[in-house]
Amino acid sequence: MSDYSTYSVVLTGASRGLGEAAARLLIEGGVGHLFCISRSVNDDIVTLAQKRGVDLRWTQCDLSDAPAATDVARAVCEACVTEAAGTAVLVNNAALLEPVARVGHLNPHDLISLHTVNTIAPSLFADAFLAAVASRTGEIAARVINVSSGLGARAMAGVGMYCMSKAAVDMLTKVIHTEQEDRTNPTWVCSVSPGTVESHMQETLRAADEAHLRDRETFRELKRSGTLNTPEFSASKILSLLTRTDIDSGSILRVDSL
Ligand SMILES: NC(=O)c1ccc[n+]([C@@H]2O[C@H](COP(=O)([O-])OP(=O)(O)OC[C@H]3O[C@@H](n4cnc5c(N)ncnc54)[C@H](OP(=O)(O)O)[C@@H]3O)[C@@H](O)[C@H]2O)c1
Repeated sequence: MSDYSTYSVVLTGASRGLGEAAARLLIEGGVGHLFCISRSVNDDIVTLAQKRGVDLRWTQCDLSDAPAATDVARAVCEACVTEAAGTAVLVNNAALLEPVARVGHLNPHDLISLHTVNTIAPSLFADAFLAAVASRTGEIAARVINVSSGLGARAMAGVGMYCMSKAAVDMLTKVIHTEQEDRTNPTWVCSVSPGTVESHMQETLRAADEAHLRDRETFRELKRSGTLNTPEFSASKILSLLTRTDIDSGSILRVDSL
């Protein structure tokens, strides 16, 4: 089992799916400090942290509310970086799939929520995190892991806003890498696609209206054939990025290549 005792981690979207699995693995690895952000709290994760004596602080925040996300990002990233003993990490994991509809049939409110949660919130967290790293006295290592998707590089009818948002997250990774390159102690950054993971997001894809999502049957077949990744599998691969030194900053990765 990995030892995360010298790590201080901000993890968005920790209440279920991939984020829940990552939170569990971090706690089992004795993470130094864990800052979770989502709308709901996962009581099992809170109980596990208490049992293991792990410092877990959960902030409930709707990341589609940009002003609220701004305040939470600043407070949480500042605490994470200030208290880090060795390495501070930001994992931008929270995301929304909906609206599942073709352009021309989008609900504007849902469209704005998706881009706020999937693109603006990760940018706000990255900005707050890097600002905290820059103003910290005493050198630490810092890493930003942006959870992305293969759909960031592939247009799929019916989930266009999601595809767009993940393309933006991949560009955020490349921009941060370019901006950190000339620093003396650069923050390492990557995007990582978790593969197809059994989660609420896959349930939404399987239940979608085929008139909008032409590929719905493909997602149903992935479930029937038992080929979906478990959240635990993908989370463990993603968390290997906390310690790996053989991967270049700025990389756009897939878990099946880790
Ligand atoms: N599942 C897949 O096949 C797949 C494939 C490629 C990429 N991904 C990526 O993997 C990551 C995790 O996805 P998942 O499959 O674990 O999804 P999930 O089960 O739907 O979990 C999404 C997480 O994001 C949080 N979240 C959603 N809307 C939020 C909001 N408005 N404010 C705050 N938090 C919010 C949710 O918490 P609350 O509801 O409690 O707020 C939840 O913890 C995402 O970045 C996703 O794009 C997943």
